[in-house]
Amino acid sequence: MNATETSDFPPSLLDIALFYAEAGVDEAIGELPVDRTVAPPPRPAVKPQPAVAVPAAVTSGQPPGPGLGTGVQAALAARAPQPTSLTAQAAESAATSAARACNTIAELEAAIRAFEGCGLKATATNTVIARGNPKAALMIVGEAPGRDEDAQGLPFVGESGQLLDRMLKAIGRDESNVYISNMLFWRPPGNRDPSTEEIVACRPFIERLIELVQPKVLVCTGKFSTATLLGTTQGITRVRGRWHEYAKGDVKVPALPMLHPAYLLRQPGVKREAWRDMLELAAKLDELGA
Ligand code: URA
Repeated sequence: MNATETSDFPPSLLDIALFYAEAGVDEAIGELPVDRTVAPPPRPAVKPQPAVAVPAAVTSGQPPGPGLGTGVQAALAARAPQPTSLTAQAAESAATSAARACNTIAELEAAIRAFEGCGLKATATNTVIARGNPKAALMIVGEAPGRDEDAQGLPFVGESGQLLDRMLKAIGRDESNVYISNMLFWRPPGNRDPSTEEIVACRPFIERLIELVQPKVLVCTGKFSTATLLGTTQGITRVRGRWHEYAKGDVKVPALPMLHPAYLLRQPGVKREAWRDMLELAAKLDELGA
């Protein structure tokens, strides 16, 4: 700044808001600022829970078996502070019992809405569970609600959802014959990647939802649902378009990993692969008379 320019310090509220908007901060998650340089008060002791089977890939540094893939694990490890396994176990245990107790989709929806074991609920506007026909032969599981989904309370209704709808329409599918849900039921703030804790806490619910819907074909869009539900250890670009089997509880169905529509929006060059996968999906549905 030269001597004739006026100082813009201190910045106005508008300057600060514009700075935040340019930096990608698109929402406030609390009424008051929090001084994170001050040590938080000690947390009350957590009552120990009986041991439950948290996938080794989630809580340890070991290579995963069936469970979360290495790509996802590495991404999660890089982004999130590692949870204490006790907290993750307690949440998973609560979700497992709640999900198992549900015998209908309506009961399961109510249980998900009542669940307090996923921290994302605190910052979300809505619980986002599913849209489409729960009797459909085709079920699609994505990652997590984004801003539009959080605002409307429905999965895949934003830009990537609209692309997904166009892709489905191209093979003769729409909400009347597809059921669409996500791994997580609350929006991660700022659309960040889901953490291990969040995936572990929500997984029993999506698995139970699949069991109650009993689809004939499952599609996993993106790396998180693919690695979590199909136990793949390779990246999504390697496993996409190849048939896997989803086997859990009463369900044993062919499952197809696909690129996430949000990725297709960022990388239009890979739409050709996505179209190939859609044709593969259409052929399988035809073959099964679904
Ligand atoms: N991306 C997802 O994975 N799910 C949504 O519902 C929206 C965007």
